[in-house]
Amino acid sequence: MNDELIQVKNLKKYFKTGRGLLHAVDDVSFSIEKGETIGVVGESGCGKSSLGRTVLRLNEPTGGQILYRGQDLVGLSARELKQIRPKMQMIFQDPYSSLNGRMTVRQLIAEPLIVNKVCRSRSEIDERIDRMMETVGLASRLDMAYPHELDGGRRQRIGIARTLILEPEFVVCDEPVSALDVSIQAQILNLLMDLQEDLGLTYMFITHDLSVVRHISRRIMVMYLGKCVEMADSQRIFDNPLHPYTKALLAAIPIPGIESRHKHRELLQGEVTSPVNPKPGCRFAARCPHASSACLESDIPMQEVEPGHFTACKLYS
Ligand SMILES: Nc1ncnc2c1ncn2[C@@H]1O[C@H](COP(=O)(O)OP(=O)(O)O)[C@@H](O)[C@H]1O
Ligand SMILES: [Mg+2]
Repeated sequence: MNDELIQVKNLKKYFKTGRGLLHAVDDVSFSIEKGETIGVVGESGCGKSSLGRTVLRLNEPTGGQILYRGQDLVGLSARELKQIRPKMQMIFQDPYSSLNGRMTVRQLIAEPLIVNKVCRSRSEIDERIDRMMETVGLASRLDMAYPHELDGGRRQRIGIARTLILEPEFVVCDEPVSALDVSIQAQILNLLMDLQEDLGLTYMFITHDLSVVRHISRRIMVMYLGKCVEMADSQRIFDNPLHPYTKALLAAIPIPGIESRHKHRELLQGEVTSPVNPKPGCRFAARCPHASSACLESDIPMQEVEPGHFTACKLYS
């Protein structure tokens, strides 16, 4: 398909640690169409942020390819990368920690424009800031406010404004609502969806919370210890999950009025395998109710079990 904006092939990101090589992202492949949102879910530590950062080449990949409009980012020099940078941006979980507390809202939103030298005059900068504040729903009277004077939702709006002011095409949203009150989460999710439609953005939306990605993602990718274990349309993941890990994640979503925690405990027992120098085979095997010795023989590749629905599990191969 030629409307694929991003193609990731066999991407690996290993970190050297005192105990050995930590496989944070291990042989992950997927593509994202222009204007699409792909959700990336999995428990804390499974490699979601590492994947997002590596796709943007904020982390140096250990192996694999990242094609952006067909061009491999892995081979690019620092200078070539700098030119592409504004097109590929990231929204973070906690904008507060990344916002300089001594800068005003106006200064914070201006900063990416100044750093990337994209405007020719001060008045052009001012115009773009005014427009962007309106776009992300920040009242213009707040422009001289400091981040500590604002609530979490408004701070995240500053984070979003700083990302979008460079007019990116592709945005990695890394847990953008996880630090926010539940009441504000929906506002920010709606804002991100409206912006996507208005600006034609392509998102990789990372979260540990499956219920958050349900409506925002067209497709969902489930990660477990550096591996992608299942990928399908959002609806399919919820209606017909295949991988035992995906089933366990879904069972863990609290349903109002129903005690689902007991079920969760039953499904997710056993020790989490270490991501350092992992042995071959399925990394979920130690916690999987269906595991057999065949699961530990070799790594299990992703297979298309039904059209557009992929999983890496012996039960389906
Ligand atoms: N810079 C780093 N150096 C060493 N290990 C790292 C680094 N960044 C992440 N990791 C490790 O990689 C694994 C995946 O982390 P991360 O991508 O942050 O997961 P997630 O975002 O899903 O919580 C974890 O075991 C984490 O400790
Ligand atoms: Mg993370």
